[in-house]
Amino acid sequence: MDASTLIDSFRVDGRVAVITGAGSGIGRASALALAGAGATVVCADIDRDSAVETAADIVGAGGRGEGVGLDVSVKRAVDDLAERVVADHGGIHIWANIAGIMVEGPVLDAPEEDLDRILAVNLKGVLFGCQAAGRVMVGQADGGSIVNASSAAADVPSPNVVSYAMCKAGVVQLTKSLAYEIGRKGVRVNAVAPGFVLTGMTGRYFVRPDGTVDEEMQEAVLAPMRKATPLRSIGEPEDIAAAVLYLASDASRFVTGQVVRPNGGVAML
Ligand SMILES: NC(=O)c1ccc[n+]([C@@H]2O[C@H](COP(=O)([O-])OP(=O)(O)OC[C@H]3O[C@@H](n4cnc5c(N)ncnc54)[C@H](O)[C@@H]3O)[C@@H](O)[C@H]2O)c1
Repeated sequence: MDASTLIDSFRVDGRVAVITGAGSGIGRASALALAGAGATVVCADIDRDSAVETAADIVGAGGRGEGVGLDVSVKRAVDDLAERVVADHGGIHIWANIAGIMVEGPVLDAPEEDLDRILAVNLKGVLFGCQAAGRVMVGQADGGSIVNASSAAADVPSPNVVSYAMCKAGVVQLTKSLAYEIGRKGVRVNAVAPGFVLTGMTGRYFVRPDGTVDEEMQEAVLAPMRKATPLRSIGEPEDIAAAVLYLASDASRFVTGQVVRPNGGVAML
């Protein structure tokens, strides 16, 4: 393969992608990256308005995108979206399960309803996405690529976010097992396990309800996060979107069942 063909292998022209959690943070950056690389992107989020906004930005930049409301914890809704995308666009080549929520608190006192909610979104929601996308992709001549959001919280002990870490570890095993099950049908399944990235999820520590930033609190949160990484840095959503694009595209055609870790080096496996 010559150098220009190699670079071209990151392009996803003519492919149809579904990104969950596309209204914010890593999902939004991934949607923009995939659209910039040529895909038609269906931006899905429980917050429909934010998904529509991401799609409008894609279209504004000359790409193809649409925004839809979706709660990934509702299996029927996930299946319906997959069916609708196939009917409208002829197939699904890329599906990224990025939607996620955070629940914090000491595990000994964790309320069962918190556990049920985070399992529903961060684990069952990813499984539902894999099932809906996988069923379509195994029947396609050109297969497909599924990308799941795990976390560095699956790689290192994660006190105070135990149910979150549990879900993200589950996503890794789901990714590997499904990759094995459907690899021979030409469908690849991989995960990204980001380190600390500045998004709505992590900004909650220092973004006030009115949207302004408490800068003192921000530095108090970010400084130890930076210090914990060999690179002394905090990630940006685009750092993770680059990994999503790699895993979604033919650049990673020999890669399946893997966890890619854009994490500043906070965990090295
Ligand atoms: N930010 C980080 O430091 C970090 C680190 C590791 C992993 N992650 C993972 O990356 C993914 C994206 O996180 P982010 O930081 O961009 O967070 P974010 O809060 O900015 O974005 C998450 C998006 O998911 C959507 N969402 C929540 N519940 C949903 C549901 N039931 N159905 C559909 N959409 C839903 C939200 O509306 C939001 O738009 C998550 O899975 C998260 O666990 C984030």
